[in-house]
Amino acid sequence: MAVIPVALAGRSYEVMVAPGLLGEFARHAEPFLRKTTVPIVADRNAWDPHGRTLLQSLETAGKEHALFLVEPGEGSKSWTGLQTLIDWLLEQGVERGDHVLALGGGVVGDLTGFACAVLKRGCGFIQLPTTLLAQVDSSVGGKTAINTSAGKNLVGAFHQPSLVLADMDALCTLPEREMRAGYAEVLKYGVLGDADFFAWLAQHGSSVLALESGFLEEAVARSVAAKARIVAEDERETSGARALLNLGHTFGHALEAETGFSHSLLHGEGVALGMVLAARYSARLGEIGSEEAEQVTAAVAAAGLPSEIAALGLECTGETLANHMLHDKKMDAGSLPFILLRGIGGAYLARNVDMADIAAFLTEQLQAH
Ligand code: NAD
Ligand code: GLY
Repeated sequence: MAVIPVALAGRSYEVMVAPGLLGEFARHAEPFLRKTTVPIVADRNAWDPHGRTLLQSLETAGKEHALFLVEPGEGSKSWTGLQTLIDWLLEQGVERGDHVLALGGGVVGDLTGFACAVLKRGCGFIQLPTTLLAQVDSSVGGKTAINTSAGKNLVGAFHQPSLVLADMDALCTLPEREMRAGYAEVLKYGVLGDADFFAWLAQHGSSVLALESGFLEEAVARSVAAKARIVAEDERETSGARALLNLGHTFGHALEAETGFSHSLLHGEGVALGMVLAARYSARLGEIGSEEAEQVTAAVAAAGLPSEIAALGLECTGETLANHMLHDKKMDAGSLPFILLRGIGGAYLARNVDMADIAAFLTEQLQAH
């Protein structure tokens, strides 16, 4: 088992990465379970196959549970979803010193985390991530949010969990496409800051995607360790360090917006394409060689992720995509920071990027091949 500390003054916690953790839940979470009844918020698709394992562990420890099931999908990360959940938590008598369990992917983690951030001005929660994306990204670092009609994740809070248990076994039931989408975030850690990890993934990525346990555990643990380092350095995304985690997200956000944030392009797929575009744009600026940019493209394609925006069949111009970017929540005093590359493993924050040039670049990419 890998145990990765997230070191934050007064709010430090551990991320445990191993198979079988849901079945050992009560043992690891014992210090946080002060009452007999444990409130659980769970994604229906995660609960059906994995809820029983969690319950057996609680029962063995003499605990009971109260369950709030969340319907799968982004629609649950809404004002209505938040209100319903908070009303339920209040009915359960959850107090500030209690801990709520969040079992599921980023949707349940973000929704539960935000509810716990505001419930009685903040109660505890434990992340039990069941998607690869949630294990390597959303469950770690304390960003919580819901969506509004104005856009995704526009209302939220920083609220750190008290413990994260990433159980490899939970991924056995994850649809293959979701697994690949999560892998894009794994690859991101290599591309942004760790050339050795990028090379390791080139060799072992197919084993990771095939859920071969040693490889999967190592990929998740190295990803979490990378994120933990960055979050410890810049918890609130103020110094620029945490912003590097947005590699691929600005281009990806534009593609997600153009496809209506629908199932036609999952978030991780947008990030994968976004990384390719960030690498190619960096090559256009002369910051990296085009061979290196194509190494990123090859890594994305090898994982079975979309790597060419021309293949999406979008009926739009580069200018339309650039306009979507201007609605990105990362806009800062009228300018949009981009994460670009000076090499694989060498991401940097670029301000004052010429949006007309971005639009021209995207038009070329839409027409390529
Ligand atoms: P998700 O939570 O929607 O899960 C993806 C799908 O997998 C859903 O259909 C879900 O029902 C299903 N599922 C979950 N676990 C399963 C399992 N073990 N077996 C079978 N099916 C399972 O999506 P996600 O990709 O995990 O997360 C995306 C969300 O995370 C977005 O809302 C995004 O904004 C957010 N996010 C947050 C952060 C952060 O730092 N807080 C970072 C990245 C993404
Ligand atoms: N997913 C980006 C972050 O946590 O900052």
